[in-house]
Amino acid sequence: MDRNLALELARVTEAAALACARWVGKGDKMAADEAATNAMRRTLGAMQISGTVVIGEGEMDEAPMLYIGEKVGSGDSPEVDIAVDPLEGTSICAKGMNGAIATIALAPRGGFLHAPDMYMEKIAVGPSAKGAIDINASPTENVKRVAEAKGCRPEDLTVVLLDRPRHDKIVHEIRKAGARIHLITDGDVAPAIAAAVDGSGVDMLMGIGGAPEGVLAAAALKCMDGDMQGRLVFMTNEERDRSKKMGIDDFDRVYNAGDMAQGDVFFAATGVTNGDLLKGVRYFAGGAETHTIVMRSKSRTVRFIESQHYFDSKPGF
Ligand code: FBP
Repeated sequence: MDRNLALELARVTEAAALACARWVGKGDKMAADEAATNAMRRTLGAMQISGTVVIGEGEMDEAPMLYIGEKVGSGDSPEVDIAVDPLEGTSICAKGMNGAIATIALAPRGGFLHAPDMYMEKIAVGPSAKGAIDINASPTENVKRVAEAKGCRPEDLTVVLLDRPRHDKIVHEIRKAGARIHLITDGDVAPAIAAAVDGSGVDMLMGIGGAPEGVLAAAALKCMDGDMQGRLVFMTNEERDRSKKMGIDDFDRVYNAGDMAQGDVFFAATGVTNGDLLKGVRYFAGGAETHTIVMRSKSRTVRFIESQHYFDSKPGF
């Protein structure tokens, strides 16, 4: 890709975060999601790209905005595929809890795994533990290998998992292996990225979460030279049929970050509420401040951007 689209993407996630930040703590996750989606779609429309949404808010008949297959951008080259989650952590946002982000990733046409809206088993670490993870090995083995690679004790590691009954066994095993656990209620994209940021306090993400969120995390980890493995979790035959239609034949395949996000990939995320990775939207008289991470795999530049937005120049926020 000739142009660096990173800063344009940062504007897109900033707009989405600013829009849904008005709904933080208001108890209405649908309204928050809708506000973020509208803002993201509007700002994407101003980008000089010929984009197709491949990971979005849903199928055409179930999502009015940013549905899978929707064309976005001005229609000029480059031809790109887009993965979006305008508000990752809708419940977190509605409850005013930590860890909600607005996020987007972009790849050359055909670059993203077309992950259906189903579950994916995931394991993610940063560059210092690259090559140490194996989704087929036990949690104990993974904790041991990551600790060795990082030159620390298992007791020094923090592993993030979604707080779900399906994870009870693995949480027990990770604790037994010595590592510390941080359970989250929702939003497993941000902690996967945080695992690749020194000083974030997160070393590893494990467990089963959404497959579309897995692809977004893979795009980020590819940009950061981290490591991730994911495997789709099929619960029903309907999911198998849907996956086949989306081009997935091997149901047991283990995807690494580079399989899920290929080519010159861009990623951006802006904090909606505070988290390990990003600060949430903070208001001041007449405006608000946002905190964004934006990166590109080709250059491997990772930018953290703090922006001040003044509402008198931004009607609508
Ligand atoms: P939202 O769709 O409400 O934003 O939730 C996102 C999320 O928490 C993801 O981060 C995670 O991968 C997935 O949902 C977990 O799904 P489930 O709640 O079914 O365990």
